[in-house]
Amino acid sequence: MATPSRQNFPNNQFSYASVKSALQVYSVPLLLLALSIFFQLIVVPRNFPTSHYAVLGIRKYSSVEEVTQAYEKITSKGDSSVEIPPTVDLIEVQYAFELLTNELWKRDYDIYNIDEQFHVIEKVKAQHTGAHISDIDLPLIKATASDPEDHAWSRDVINSQNFSSIFEDDKASLVQIISYGSDRCAQFSANWKKIVNVLDGVANTGTIELGDVQLTAYLAEKKSSGQPFFRNGLPALVSFPPGCKSSSCLHRYNGELSVDAITDWFATSILNLPRILYYSKEAMVHSFLAKSKPHKVKVIFFSTSGERAYPLIRQAAKNYWAYATFAFALWEEKDASFWWNVRRVAPPWFRVGKGRGFLPSPVAGDGDRGGEKSPPFTDDFGVGGRGGGGWGR
Ligand SMILES: *[C@@H]1O[C@H](CO)[C@@H](O)[C@H](O)[C@H]1NC(C)=O
Repeated sequence: MATPSRQNFPNNQFSYASVKSALQVYSVPLLLLALSIFFQLIVVPRNFPTSHYAVLGIRKYSSVEEVTQAYEKITSKGDSSVEIPPTVDLIEVQYAFELLTNELWKRDYDIYNIDEQFHVIEKVKAQHTGAHISDIDLPLIKATASDPEDHAWSRDVINSQNFSSIFEDDKASLVQIISYGSDRCAQFSANWKKIVNVLDGVANTGTIELGDVQLTAYLAEKKSSGQPFFRNGLPALVSFPPGCKSSSCLHRYNGELSVDAITDWFATSILNLPRILYYSKEAMVHSFLAKSKPHKVKVIFFSTSGERAYPLIRQAAKNYWAYATFAFALWEEKDASFWWNVRRVAPPWFRVGKGRGFLPSPVAGDGDRGGEKSPPFTDDFGVGGRGGGGWGR
């Protein structure tokens, strides 16, 4: 009460100052807000593809019948009350019709927003500028080459009922999530077959089809709206490390879909296995053979493909780490005599194979060198040690 002026004046000043500083503090967020409004209202709608339902003028999730009716209405020539749209728009109409009248494609689009062949629209538009719709080859969307029954990967299909079978032992698991309607999945199936083979005995594998909505939605990532999605489309690969039995601890693979990249990721990130490095001829002598500890056995794996070591080999290497050091070399026929000479100074050799584990193999004598045209050591994986007779398949 004694000092009212002292109370008011500083307060006023303080509030001026606070407005000013608030504006300063908020200038960046305000600018960002303005930018984001601009982005949402102006930029996004232009860049975002219109829904295929909207292209046909019907509501989302309309039935196949409704899609067909809408398509016929737009394209029918007899109805003079409806003007036929220009070819570029008809391409979009045609694409929407094809996608939404295919049971599998519609399902994948409705639930997971999967639209693999979307790029076809722009491609066809570019190829047929000014052309009439009847000049365009239909259908626009390529069907998958094979039918579900004869897919190699349908053999290891699992569903909600028997999903737990991949957790029966303590091994890690790798699961591919596919759609029978997906061309990318059909193309991947040969790689998957090889991956299943490579991981046999090391991990459990399984295939889940999107038709098992309950299970695939459980394994998918979720948008804030709750919609399940697969970031990189299909096939989606998820892995359960040893001991992990729920979606809370699974790992998602986001790399390229080659056998080498996938098995390397699985061995390194999921199984925590060591890498085995490749050496050139020269480096093998100077860096590997000369530098590894003298009491350790030196093991060189030959590969004709350049692929990185499969999990089984890395597992073996890990088990023998205390006694042996390991290296990979790319096998080329012109280097045969070089390796032959190296080989003579670095016995014994190991042979690795599925189901056999990792067995020391007697070094071959000079006598059986005759006419060697292939890698000196070939086994199930093409990278093991010499099959000196005692370790036959
Ligand atoms: C799971 O069930 C499906 C359908 O009944 C069957 O085709 C598949 O072989 C089963 N998979 C396993 C691993 O038991």
